[in-house]
Amino acid sequence: MAATRKSNFDSLFYQPADKFFPANHNTGLTFDDITLATLYSEILPRDTLLDTQLAEGLHLNIPVISSDMDTVTESRMATAMALNGGLGLLHYNLPEREQLSQVSRVKNHVHGLIQEPIKVLPDQFIGDVIEMIEQKKFGFSTFPVVDEQGKLVGLLPGHVVKPRYAKRKVAEALQPRAHVETINQKELGKDPIARADKFFTEHLGIHKLLVVDDKDRLYGLITLSDVERITQERLAQFKPARDSRFRLVCGAAVSATRNAFGELDRNRILAHVSGLVERGVDVIAVSTAHGHTKGVGDTVKVLRGAFPDLPIIAGNVTSAAGVEFLADCGADSIKIGQGPGSICTTRIVAGVGIPQMTALYTCSQAAKKKKVTILADGGITKSGDIVKALTLSQAVICGGIFAGCNEAPGDVLEISGKYYKQYRGMGSFAAMKAGSAVRYGHEKNPTQKVAPEGVEALKETCGSVDRVLAQLIGGIQSGMGYLGAKNLEQLRQKACYIRVSPAGMREAAPHDVVELKTGN
Ligand code: XMP
Repeated sequence: MAATRKSNFDSLFYQPADKFFPANHNTGLTFDDITLATLYSEILPRDTLLDTQLAEGLHLNIPVISSDMDTVTESRMATAMALNGGLGLLHYNLPEREQLSQVSRVKNHVHGLIQEPIKVLPDQFIGDVIEMIEQKKFGFSTFPVVDEQGKLVGLLPGHVVKPRYAKRKVAEALQPRAHVETINQKELGKDPIARADKFFTEHLGIHKLLVVDDKDRLYGLITLSDVERITQERLAQFKPARDSRFRLVCGAAVSATRNAFGELDRNRILAHVSGLVERGVDVIAVSTAHGHTKGVGDTVKVLRGAFPDLPIIAGNVTSAAGVEFLADCGADSIKIGQGPGSICTTRIVAGVGIPQMTALYTCSQAAKKKKVTILADGGITKSGDIVKALTLSQAVICGGIFAGCNEAPGDVLEISGKYYKQYRGMGSFAAMKAGSAVRYGHEKNPTQKVAPEGVEALKETCGSVDRVLAQLIGGIQSGMGYLGAKNLEQLRQKACYIRVSPAGMREAAPHDVVELKTGN
């Protein structure tokens, strides 16, 4: 068919990776230095598949991972990432016990179940409840009523939460326990939303389902509106990333911890990772700035020896030798990136690091040989960068893109009418201080490393992870449509590249217009 035939003339300009990168071997190239050539396509963006296998037993439905940074990924972010089909890597700048609890929070997350619902006590006055609603700006007025031990006593219905009853006690106005419909947490089964959906259909007019444990203590609450929203979302193309027991997937980062003698603290690393595994962690990331080192290699070997089936990510490296080394030590997936991150100063401080597309190409060659996967870590600012990164890697890791989301840790700051969240490099002085202090028990002089390799910054708030990912996924799917790639494997096989001049780069962004609405 003429339409699909490749023109020799095109191939002089638009070259596949194995020609393009060797031809540009003496220049480090990053995302904006190149563009992808369009190809004949029969693929509509909406029909593209984005699932990716990072290791045996680690399958994601979208190739996007949130970075193990203390201003990006804690349990809320990891939960949101997995619900969208991706993965969150919990950072390690926190006490080990707290990281274990965060893994549990993600693994035990039941979508739609409010696990700590707002409740009231029988002794409270309705006036107090009204005051609480006003103060906290709650958009609801029906509350479960529990006693001091957390046992369910009844339900305070919204229609009695009125100023005229302010002097009445909750105990007088509640619907007693015997008349409140509940379900035991064990009956929720594998698919709590389907179970709750059935319950609401069977119980006309009931909008809240209280979940109790065997001792009749309130365990959670499922609302009809959440069930309806989630049922609608289930029609979405990309399903949550779950393990074989239907729990959300979750990753956790660990460092190559050393003891007081400067030796690798094998016992401590093994004890911590055992705890993470017991809680159901799906992947461990041995995360450091320089992964092609004895310390990181030994850590990976220790973990591989102790946990033969545990998927292990390790990094960061930017050379084929680095990938081979970590693969030989037992890593399944290797993080590629030194200095591309939006908060990184490694290249300025240390004079070291390779622009991302060149680093990805060299690393991808070793990865193919060693049958491991690679992750493009850092420097991604737009969906087009992700498409380019995915032509050479199996997934991307993003920090800055998610740091302004509701689900990222930290408070919102208002500056001149705009809202921001803090975003800092893990090599920034403040983050190193926090990490070293909790990790090694130091209060003062918490770090030996005196030259920070990251900055402390702000990101404008950008709403929910769902919203940000919807835009990124839309962009990835468009890119795949332009290349006629049905899945990520085809994207890697088909991609052809050409370098872009500075004028070409200017041409790529909106120009010569007064922008009324930004693209995002
Ligand atoms: P983005 O561009 O997504 O980058 O914000 C996130 C990635 O940057 C790395 N990282 C650092 N690199 N100094 C560095 O040189 C730092 O302080 C630092 N903190 C994070 C990390 O790989 C992350 O995923």
